[in-house]
Amino acid sequence: MKELKGKVAFITGGGSGVALGQAKVFSREGMKVVIADIRQDHLDEAMDYFNKQGAAVHPVHLDITDRDACSRAADETEKVFGPVDLLCNTAGVSIFGPIQDATYDDWDWIMNVNINGVINGIRTFLPRMIERGAGGHIVNTASMSAFVPLPGTGVYNTSKYAVRGLSEALRLDLETTGIGVSLLCPGAVNTNIHEAVLTRPEHLSETGYYGADEEVFKRLKSVIEVGLDPEDLAEFVLTAVRNNDFWVIPYPEFRETLDDLHQEVIAALPDPSSDPEMMKRVERFNVRRRERQQEGREQK
Ligand code: NAI
Repeated sequence: MKELKGKVAFITGGGSGVALGQAKVFSREGMKVVIADIRQDHLDEAMDYFNKQGAAVHPVHLDITDRDACSRAADETEKVFGPVDLLCNTAGVSIFGPIQDATYDDWDWIMNVNINGVINGIRTFLPRMIERGAGGHIVNTASMSAFVPLPGTGVYNTSKYAVRGLSEALRLDLETTGIGVSLLCPGAVNTNIHEAVLTRPEHLSETGYYGADEEVFKRLKSVIEVGLDPEDLAEFVLTAVRNNDFWVIPYPEFRETLDDLHQEVIAALPDPSSDPEMMKRVERFNVRRRERQQEGREQK
């Protein structure tokens, strides 16, 4: 999407952090922006900022796990600003601890927001974008946790690997529609995610981890406060939307980690040269792969 001025962005989680940074940067480019968030205090604070700027920003109180509410939010957006050109599925939550301590409620809360929330965003807006036929762009936010697990990050990792898988597949499926896809995979960003449990719903409150605990919040904040500023991160997203770049990973410090990971995976593949049957399979597969690449159905 080269021209952004006057176009409409819908940004989930837009009241805080990474998403608020995106809202500020896209609004500065002249877009009309809807910020959708479950926390009214985050929306109010963000709107104080945008109202002072005289920016065309509209707040929607939304729980992205509520599918009917997502649909109503899309209708409201169209009424206020018009159809959505840019969808940023950014809202997300985190909780940490060993997988063996996770309750079903822990799993359900994280998966509902982090992956079902992205699915709900896509299911709500993508058919409208396709029907309109005017192109557009979708930015999904995963994390470096979509590549790299650390002890105690397993539930969050599971949700973020899913966002990455969904986004890589979506890019292929949308190739002929004029709708671009970008995947943002941040390392640390200085946001309010350390307080994520404050948005945890009552009906999923049984946890094997921690609740609203100031000491835990302080510890988590110390990890992210050295991270990127959300607006600086959003500048990279802006460039990706303009250039239709898929990967948005402005964290070169992960180069060796990613390299090691890929080398470990490649090293697990057996050498087929001494096994004629295996060799035939490899050749057949490669022929099919090249055909798919020529048809544009697989990334080169
Ligand atoms: P944040 O907590 O500052 O902002 C997230 C916003 O999403 C909050 O305003 C929150 O109220 C909202 N939200 C939570 N649940 C929601 C729901 N069900 N419906 C609607 N809104 C909801 O956190 P941050 O860091 O800005 O997180 C944004 C995204 O960035 C998340 O997907 C997170 O996983 C990802 N991320 C963050 C990193 C970091 O270091 N902060 C690193 C990697 C990825």
